[in-house]
Amino acid sequence: MSEVSLLKQLTRSLMAGLPIANQDPHRQKWHVMPAIGALNDPNGFIQAHGRYHLFHQWNPLTCGTGASWWAHLSSTDLVTWQHEPVALLPTEDYEINGCYSGSAVLKDDKIHLLYTGNVKFKDGSRTAWQCLAIEQADGTYEKQGPVIALPEGYTGHVRDPKVWQHDDFWYMVLAAQAPDLQGKILLYRSPDLTQWELLNELAGSCVNQLAEFGYMWECPDLFRLGNADILLCCPQGLAAKEYEYLNLYQAGYFIGELDYQTHRYQHGSFHEMDLGFEFYAPQTTETEDGRRLMFGWLGLPDDNRFAQPTVQYGWVDCLTCPRELIYRDGQLYQTPVSELKALRSTHELNWSGLAENAPALDAMSSELHVDVSSPFSLSFRENASLKWDGQQLIFTRLNWRTQQEESRYWFGELDHLQILLDASSIEIFINHGEACMSARYFPSAQKTQMKFDGAHPVSIRHWLLHSPMLECPQPTSSDVP
Ligand code: FRU
Repeated sequence: MSEVSLLKQLTRSLMAGLPIANQDPHRQKWHVMPAIGALNDPNGFIQAHGRYHLFHQWNPLTCGTGASWWAHLSSTDLVTWQHEPVALLPTEDYEINGCYSGSAVLKDDKIHLLYTGNVKFKDGSRTAWQCLAIEQADGTYEKQGPVIALPEGYTGHVRDPKVWQHDDFWYMVLAAQAPDLQGKILLYRSPDLTQWELLNELAGSCVNQLAEFGYMWECPDLFRLGNADILLCCPQGLAAKEYEYLNLYQAGYFIGELDYQTHRYQHGSFHEMDLGFEFYAPQTTETEDGRRLMFGWLGLPDDNRFAQPTVQYGWVDCLTCPRELIYRDGQLYQTPVSELKALRSTHELNWSGLAENAPALDAMSSELHVDVSSPFSLSFRENASLKWDGQQLIFTRLNWRTQQEESRYWFGELDHLQILLDASSIEIFINHGEACMSARYFPSAQKTQMKFDGAHPVSIRHWLLHSPMLECPQPTSSDVP
């Protein structure tokens, strides 16, 4: 379909849909979410021209799956975001079933987007093109077309290019599937972002001493952090174990060493990135001050997705809060970026005593720190709970589709929790980022509080969080014809 027809449909959907979406009591107050329609992966996260640029997979015309677009937001502080012109719409033959996920790099002072053009055929098969688009002076993106065709020896499931610069070359990790249905990560190299050479199968199921480990590894990301090369990826097809791989698809990482001479990646075992219920397709960028920041999709392509009550209000899913990754003493830590402190109201509640005597606290948009010395439990709006019994941390929620309770687990020595709450999400950071558990939940709008229980002492700090989500830029002369 032409860009003009798609934009006409978008205009109608936005005008009709935005007032409805904004009435939803589950609308997030400070997380990135779609104005209308369905959001999935974060894409193209980069700091450039003095702003953070963040794109995401977007299906604005329906709360279902379809040919995805790239929405674009920007921010100076990771707290207040401004909508930018839609970056990519699926208009060309090579991307007709979706401008799938990808990444951004800065070249010649312009943001360059590398993304997947997805094409599906009537017989159920598909092909994929890795494509390039370049930022224009007016903030739109000009498509340059495909730069990588389907590599030989793989199925049509090839996607999600993540590109970075090292010495004189651009490197790309790309998700691919071998004909025997094993998920792989390919490594490419280019002098100019247009000519690409396939160097190696870098990692994957049945690669590097790893046994069978899933039929597809979506959304790879590879970066240097401290003295390690970390590979993020999202393996699909891992069987659930008692306490591991409990979600339909996993998002996790390997710690290893990339050899730029041999193009080999030696790595250790797979770790889940988030032990909660919803977390997928994370993407990182390196900031100008040298931090490694990450957004994830606070969602999953599972059966719960389109059963969310927000679908009735015409929108679905949101991103995680921005997180900083730190690698220290062989361990990857994940904490909310320090910029999020700007969301805190000036009033801070400090309270210590027996858990059961703790005051009920706002859980609609707030931040809670707990110094833990003994067992306690905490109920979030009567719809989710956290229980520490001295050995395991059990995160339970009511599944909105099945109406059954379900749990996720962390084992270790707990001394601190940082919990970020929004109207329909919970993000729990354990021991200053040693582990993380995230979830969406949809409690009744009348239940707004969280409540501690237990006969042992807890020490609490609590802030209400502001919601400065969207900044409305003044129209510039170029906006007015
Ligand atoms: C991950 C994913 C990617 C793909 C995109 C399509 O959630 O399936 O592999 O590029 O979503 O929206």
